[in-house]
Amino acid sequence: MTKFTRILAAVLVAAMGLVCFAACTTDAPATTTPATTAPAATTTPTAKPVLKMGTNAYFPPYEFYEGEKIVGIDAEIAAAIAEKLGMELEIVDMSFDSILSAVNADTVDFGMAGMTITEKRLLEVDFSNSYAKGVQAIIVKEGSAITAAGDLSADGATYKVGVQLGTTGDIYASDEFGKDRVTQYQTGNEAVAALIKGDVDCVIIDNEPAKSYVKANEGIKTLDTSYADEDYAICVKKGNKELLDKINAAIYELTKDGTIEGIVNKYIGE
Ligand code: ARG
Repeated sequence: MTKFTRILAAVLVAAMGLVCFAACTTDAPATTTPATTAPAATTTPTAKPVLKMGTNAYFPPYEFYEGEKIVGIDAEIAAAIAEKLGMELEIVDMSFDSILSAVNADTVDFGMAGMTITEKRLLEVDFSNSYAKGVQAIIVKEGSAITAAGDLSADGATYKVGVQLGTTGDIYASDEFGKDRVTQYQTGNEAVAALIKGDVDCVIIDNEPAKSYVKANEGIKTLDTSYADEDYAICVKKGNKELLDKINAAIYELTKDGTIEGIVNKYIGE
């Protein structure tokens, strides 16, 4: 798909979302009532309202492209949640560090991106109950002198660390090793490419994506030492209790009936 067709597709999808929004105001947050005087929209009565998810789709196995489609654990859990809500899921791919502002600007209804609950993010958005655990991992080249997390913080260590911009890996690394030793990339893929090229000495990123990258690329491995334990959750605009309650109820049911476990096992196995 060329950049142009992708933009065109995004515009079309956004336009469809608008039509539906105008036609389905009963379920919309009661701020303004758009299009009351506009000519009646002729959408079919069966058209479902759209639920928009913001993500960064370079984070396998949680979200990644399979051809032109975004798939993965988050994509499938989100689709199941949307179904419970009687809505149609639409996934919007964006840079990871703009998800919170997109949620707060109502560009999307919620964010789901293997996103860790942090104190700082809780100041900006509300999080659902957690649906998965994450662990920060360290990827190095085979034969690297870095063999444990402690090597990175040892006296006089100058190892360069690659991270995805705005992620918890970025936050920990920048705090612990100082900004000059950390290079921020737009995606995990780019950070790993930089490691392979030799621009950085390691990458700090969540464990499951780390495993996917190691599987997909020769000559790199993850260290046994893990870095931090985290909880992944869905974020909504601060104060959007209505949507948050619905999402939590859906997560509860999808956990109870084994749907979430089934989705996780499909992508992670065991
Ligand atoms: N768990 C980390 C965080 O919340 C990384 C998430 C990155 N997600 C993504 N879809 N790129 O900061």
